[in-house]
Amino acid sequence: PCCQRKKKKKNMCLFSSCVPEFWGDIAKDFFWKTKHAGQFLDYNFDVTKGEIFIKCMEGASTNICYNLLDRNVNEHKLGDKVAFYWEGNEPGDELTVTYRELLRRVCQFANVLKSQGVKKGDRVSIYMPMVVELVVAMLACVRIGAVHSIVFAGFSAESLCERIMDSQCSLLITADGFYRGDKLINLKLIADEALQKCRDKGFPLQRCIMLKHLSKEAEETPLGSQSPPAKRACPDLQVPWNPEVDLCWFTLLCGVSDECEPEWCDSEDPLFILYTSGSTGKPKGVLHTVGGYMLYAATTFKLVFDYQPDDVYWCTADIGWITGHSYITYGPLANGATSVLFEGLPTYPDVSRMWEIVDKYHVSKFYTAPTAIRLLMKYGSEPVQKYKRQSLKVLGTVGEPINPEAWQWYYTVVGEKRCPIVDTFWQTETGGHVLTPLPAATPMKPGSATFPFFGVVPAILNESGEELEGPSEGYLVFKQPWPGVMRTVYGNHQRFETTYFRKFPGYYVTGDGCRRDEDGYYWITGRIDDMLNVSGHLLSTAEVESALVEHEAVAEAAVVGRPHAVKGESLYCFVTLTDGVTYSCSLEAELKKQVREKIGAIATPDYIQNAPGLPKTRSGKIMRRVLRKIARNDRDLGDVSTLADSSVIEQLFQNRCCTAV
Ligand code: WT7
Repeated sequence: PCCQRKKKKKNMCLFSSCVPEFWGDIAKDFFWKTKHAGQFLDYNFDVTKGEIFIKCMEGASTNICYNLLDRNVNEHKLGDKVAFYWEGNEPGDELTVTYRELLRRVCQFANVLKSQGVKKGDRVSIYMPMVVELVVAMLACVRIGAVHSIVFAGFSAESLCERIMDSQCSLLITADGFYRGDKLINLKLIADEALQKCRDKGFPLQRCIMLKHLSKEAEETPLGSQSPPAKRACPDLQVPWNPEVDLCWFTLLCGVSDECEPEWCDSEDPLFILYTSGSTGKPKGVLHTVGGYMLYAATTFKLVFDYQPDDVYWCTADIGWITGHSYITYGPLANGATSVLFEGLPTYPDVSRMWEIVDKYHVSKFYTAPTAIRLLMKYGSEPVQKYKRQSLKVLGTVGEPINPEAWQWYYTVVGEKRCPIVDTFWQTETGGHVLTPLPAATPMKPGSATFPFFGVVPAILNESGEELEGPSEGYLVFKQPWPGVMRTVYGNHQRFETTYFRKFPGYYVTGDGCRRDEDGYYWITGRIDDMLNVSGHLLSTAEVESALVEHEAVAEAAVVGRPHAVKGESLYCFVTLTDGVTYSCSLEAELKKQVREKIGAIATPDYIQNAPGLPKTRSGKIMRRVLRKIARNDRDLGDVSTLADSSVIEQLFQNRCCTAV
């Protein structure tokens, strides 16, 4: 892009030149009720010069739901085009939803939200499985200018409560339950527990709308023309009901109009909040705004997957994570794309499920995570080769660095060397891809996310904050914003500045380490803060530690990552017990359960080691570097001269945990 030409002039504002042209042209493809007045993109990335801000097309008004649905139905005549092929957990459970039907349902549900008193700017928590109604709920919020905060349905009651309270939501939308493989999740039961916790903490939520997903009765017509056959009776489903708070999704829809005028929002009005782990342990509510996010999600989707109108696209992520927000809902719908929305698991009922779905719907663009690839790789090529996969054209990956072995398997076995791989590096905070190849245009290097997307200007800094030139390794930062970057941490702008901008004034700091090779390719080397990446999900060591120390038997805890063949990293926890308590298997099981209950199943410890002493510096700081080595049984400890008591190290090596709990 033209930005590169001006690279030499350090710190000059590139936005005055090419950005308005590039993004401004793209903005013309969208509907704006009113035009923006000032600069296309205005920002300050330098804490020493005042408050950090990013504004894109401020003053322009639009509605994303209108752009995603009304415009595609009415202007682009895509009403009869399939928006989603919903594929349930159980093979045979399926639904087809067109753009017209989706628009109708969204408008109806938007009217329901309005009748419940939800107004522009109000926050709504959504805690749902991967069903079309999840998309309906999020877009209904967007239509009326409410701000959705989706909480992944694998999170615990405690995590849900924390997120509801932090975002001060006025309403919760959930479902009765769902199956993950053959495991029943009593979602409403967990949601109720969360609401009770909120009440106990002085935040009584008045309303909870529940979708009957498993307990649907025959007369309750779901989305689309067909109704999924009730494949499975669920005798264990528990649906607690609190008449003072609970409302039934289907009952509320009765007689409600399917027309709803969109609420016109400023480009810089909040669109959604999505929580991501923070290194202090408390999750951060990443806030994205309307206009810039819309442009960015739509454009990255279009270019990175080389979107073509006859594509069938499938992203296997859950909408509860940013990947699902940007690349199941917003990006694909903005382009009028047809997507597969999958409720189940890659291994249920067997390890061929993904490829069966690819053939069933003729999927052409496929997007998944390295952890899923590594999991399936274990079963060899036979389950893949049972299916043809001839429709596949582009394969994407996201969530963590992909090891070259998994890359090769994905490329050779899954894509039969026909399909370029797009290794997309980004974050909840970046809103969309920031380092990524363009398929068939960028020469690939297995394991490298290659180059920045248009308008993204990365740099690599050393510890003193100096920009490194040429081949180098250090902190990955960005020098200027792009339209889809986060705007703040909800309710805590100071935390936003401290987390991303204070360490190196003038730069957005990703928290990732990165190497640039002699050809200018970027290689993410992993997190350089106290974050762990388990199966593509970020967790902070602090949040797991605080869940552990909340147990009365634990005096102190230190958590580190240990390499894991499928998950990327696994959780290795060192616990120091309180005086008088003895370590036992039952305590270990209790601690494991405690963490699951506090955070969710993704944070379940893999290893717990009894650590009567922890390696600390004289000033009392735990040396995690040393603990990481112990977890890996690596005796090459480096400099340990600052340790207060080095005898603890030998003791910890002696008592290492070899098998996962
Ligand atoms: C962190 C962001 C972006 C959606 C999923 C995760 C790691 C993500 C890659 C990649 C190497 C990657 C980074 C990043 N990461 N994609 N292609 N190569 N690392 O979103 O939970 O906000 O996590 O995931 O460490 O900072 P997230």
